[in-house]
Amino acid sequence: MKKSYTLLLLLFLVSTGLKSVAQLPKETAEQKQKRMEWWTNARFGMFIHWGLYSLPARHEWVKKNERMTNEQYQKYFDLFDPDLYNPKEWAKQAKAAGMKYAVLTTKHHEGFCLFDSKLTDYKATNTPAKRDLVREFVDAFRAEGLRVGFYYSLIDWHHPDFPIDANHPQSAKTDSEYDILNKDRDMAKYRKYLYGQVKELMSNYGKIDYLFFDFSYPGKHGKGKDDWDSENLLKMVRQLQPDIVVNDRLDLTDTEGGWDFVTPEQYKVSKCPEYKGQKVPWETCQTFSGSWGYYRDETSWKDNKQLLELLIESVSKGGNLLLNVGPTSRGTFDYRAIEHLNGMGKWMKVNSRSIYGCTEAPDEFRAPSNTLYTYNPVTKRLYIHLLSYPLQNITLPGLNGKVKYAQFLHDGSELRMSPTQASGIKPSTGPEDILISLPVLKPNVEIPVIELFLK
Ligand code: GLC
Repeated sequence: MKKSYTLLLLLFLVSTGLKSVAQLPKETAEQKQKRMEWWTNARFGMFIHWGLYSLPARHEWVKKNERMTNEQYQKYFDLFDPDLYNPKEWAKQAKAAGMKYAVLTTKHHEGFCLFDSKLTDYKATNTPAKRDLVREFVDAFRAEGLRVGFYYSLIDWHHPDFPIDANHPQSAKTDSEYDILNKDRDMAKYRKYLYGQVKELMSNYGKIDYLFFDFSYPGKHGKGKDDWDSENLLKMVRQLQPDIVVNDRLDLTDTEGGWDFVTPEQYKVSKCPEYKGQKVPWETCQTFSGSWGYYRDETSWKDNKQLLELLIESVSKGGNLLLNVGPTSRGTFDYRAIEHLNGMGKWMKVNSRSIYGCTEAPDEFRAPSNTLYTYNPVTKRLYIHLLSYPLQNITLPGLNGKVKYAQFLHDGSELRMSPTQASGIKPSTGPEDILISLPVLKPNVEIPVIELFLK
């Protein structure tokens, strides 16, 4: 009796275990690396947060922050008229900045869809915009040779079945208040809606390279993988778009195949993020100025040097930068965004070799202070980014005998090098170091880069 019970239990565990494993496609580490190769090499992408919140122009969370009802928010829907929307121009601007892919909010937390979903009326086609804005985005960015990504908000503050929770504009104070508010709301219905919309996005726009789900907050008055039915959702995505790369916000951290890369938001990581002791692919998403949606009165804009440092530092730790633009309600990029994209583009035009296809430098190369190293493992070139321009020379530890040639990257001009001993520099340097001579005049680039051809 006891024996057959154990057998039954075992059978049950194996069958349920198998079921959940079979949910998501299996792949080897090499296959995953191959699938993610374009993204890994790209290193720099554009995030685009665009929706009805571009009209109030005071944060994409304005509906929550000001506890607006659907009725109060309706005026933005009625007036949404991006008459200057020209995604071809956006794509050109992204490309000129050196970005290789772009990720657009097809729906943000407010629930408004920029695409022509058959499952709702709350979409761009029913506003004065009168058209599928996602379709135009996809076509324009593809035409510029950029990879195309979708952001999709799991959260929905407009859908009548989405249960009100702590993040919702109508959030409550007590459990009984929540009970009353949610008595007619049915998460199962919302789940179906969410599944259906993601299916539309994955089916109707050709090949989609990238998907950013946003976001899970499991716990009381929150939502996580069971609410979204994350595994089945992702399984469908992978079936429809087998090559797609997907972020980590479905609350499937511990599920095999549940995410492709992690997404540190609005902060600099101190080192390459790890999962169970292994380095993992990562991409930091960052804003120019704080808010993701267009925020007219925000003045906390990062300057060009800070933005370039964000990019270089990400690559120096093996990661990507997804830098956000929040277009206006007319459909244009803010003049400050354009200025900064131009600034980055100017630098990238002559220095992108230290970004694309690059990653962390091998441990043996220790970057001196005020520098960041990136490394291209295919060409075996090491890039030294001079964040603060040194006077006349710089000592690079551990490189003596390992370098064939040194030059400035921006103009390909030779930089002379010598073992530090020979140059009489003492005492902080050793025989394993090299000394690179630099002109006193800082080159006319925001952050000069030394390119070392390693032996
Ligand atoms: C957060 C915010 C959201 C933004 C996202 C970008 O999850 O809720 O407004 O879209 O970060 O990563």
